[in-house]
Amino acid sequence: MTTPHGNHMHTVDLETMKLREQVFDYARRRMNYDPPPLDGPKTISELRAIVPATVTEEGLGGIEALSLFENVLAEATISNDHPNYLSFIPCAPTEAATLFDLIVSASTIYGGSWMEGAGAVYAENQVLEWLATEAGLPEGAGGVFVQGGTLGNLSALVAARHTAKEALLAAGKEIPSRWRFACSSEAHSSLKAAARVMDVDIVPVPVNAEGRLTGQALESTLEGDWDGIFAVVATGGTTNFGIVDELHDVGTVAKAHGVWFHVDGAYGLAAMLAPSTRHLFAGVALADSFIVDPHKWLFAPFDACALVYRNPELGRITHSQHADYLDALENPDEWNPSDYAYNLTRRPRGLPLWFSLATYGVAAYRNAVEMNIQLAYKIADEIRRRPDLELVRDPELSVVVFTKKGWELADYSRWSAKLLEDGIGFVVPSSHQGIPNTRFAIVNPRTSFESLVEILDTMV
Ligand SMILES: Cc1ncc(COP(=O)(O)O)c(C=O)c1O
Repeated sequence: MTTPHGNHMHTVDLETMKLREQVFDYARRRMNYDPPPLDGPKTISELRAIVPATVTEEGLGGIEALSLFENVLAEATISNDHPNYLSFIPCAPTEAATLFDLIVSASTIYGGSWMEGAGAVYAENQVLEWLATEAGLPEGAGGVFVQGGTLGNLSALVAARHTAKEALLAAGKEIPSRWRFACSSEAHSSLKAAARVMDVDIVPVPVNAEGRLTGQALESTLEGDWDGIFAVVATGGTTNFGIVDELHDVGTVAKAHGVWFHVDGAYGLAAMLAPSTRHLFAGVALADSFIVDPHKWLFAPFDACALVYRNPELGRITHSQHADYLDALENPDEWNPSDYAYNLTRRPRGLPLWFSLATYGVAAYRNAVEMNIQLAYKIADEIRRRPDLELVRDPELSVVVFTKKGWELADYSRWSAKLLEDGIGFVVPSSHQGIPNTRFAIVNPRTSFESLVEILDTMV
């Protein structure tokens, strides 16, 4: 078959088919690792020294580029799915979720509109409905999968402010000179970022001794001055400690003041699936919106955040984009995911989670999340047993934060670097109230007690 010059990039020919097999082989090799090598970053100058110019007029050819990726670039990236990747919030996709991500990539599905992506959107919406039901939201709740928790929080807050503004305008009332939202001092940094983007203020509410935002603290911080408050944000599993705010009380206070209640459950809301922690999340039923990130603790690959509204129409009114060339997509009977967040073109990024849930069933998810929680409790017991280690707080979900007696930040940094260098684990230093510590964030069902003990043993 002759290939028209310049069009060989889109032609299926022998060369493409060979490359296809090589790519599948690599994907297979990567998925077969048990576990994958942890690998680790190199400096820019190290990479400059070993990576040739790859973006060239003629191209390197796929086989060479793939080999460069596998043998040089991939080795300079940490494997988030390694069972001993315990920093930040790791990512541990199921086999089915990873496999389906390949299919999503191979299928070029436009996930922004029903007209183009009906089947995919239908499946994504089944997952969103399931999450809404688990959270206790009424029928009709729904939303969209966006790129991450940062964008999910921003989109929810923009909808909250728009709704508050429209309500004031409809009532003939004045718009406040500054808009504000309240959240705990332990809330995620993405909320500060959202406030900057929206040019609104944050009312930081102090947490109680257990690290939780309470309804009482919310009331007393605001001292009856709710002017300009368009949302209250509670966290369902803080990033640093996995602490769940008093969601029911906070939600009740927000509702009493007629204010939008948003739950940031990016990491922790997955624990509503686990029998032992489900009760902590009862208050999510009051939420006007919530987020949970499948790429954190719902075992899906990067990048996905489920954003769910109690009344999705409020999200749609806020976020729909209108233009002559989009008119064809406007149909009141159809669900266009792009309308529910600050986004337009979108990959149907909820599909890997959908496929995984459809494959294994919800019970497998409940078990996996519960296993992580029980492992966190067990390693916390081990830390309590060791006189040289000290828990900073008792774990509530699956984050375990602890200190080593006498260690300064430099000691944690030295130890952490060596752990990675030796390919044992990725556990970075963290801190609380200015005191350095380290933490295990456990979201990988393949993480074992024995390997965590082995890591503790290296803290000498
Ligand atoms: C509680 C919480 N909210 C929001 C985010 C931001 O999510 P993303 O990194 O997906 O933007 C995180 C990330 O760790 C988080 O833990």
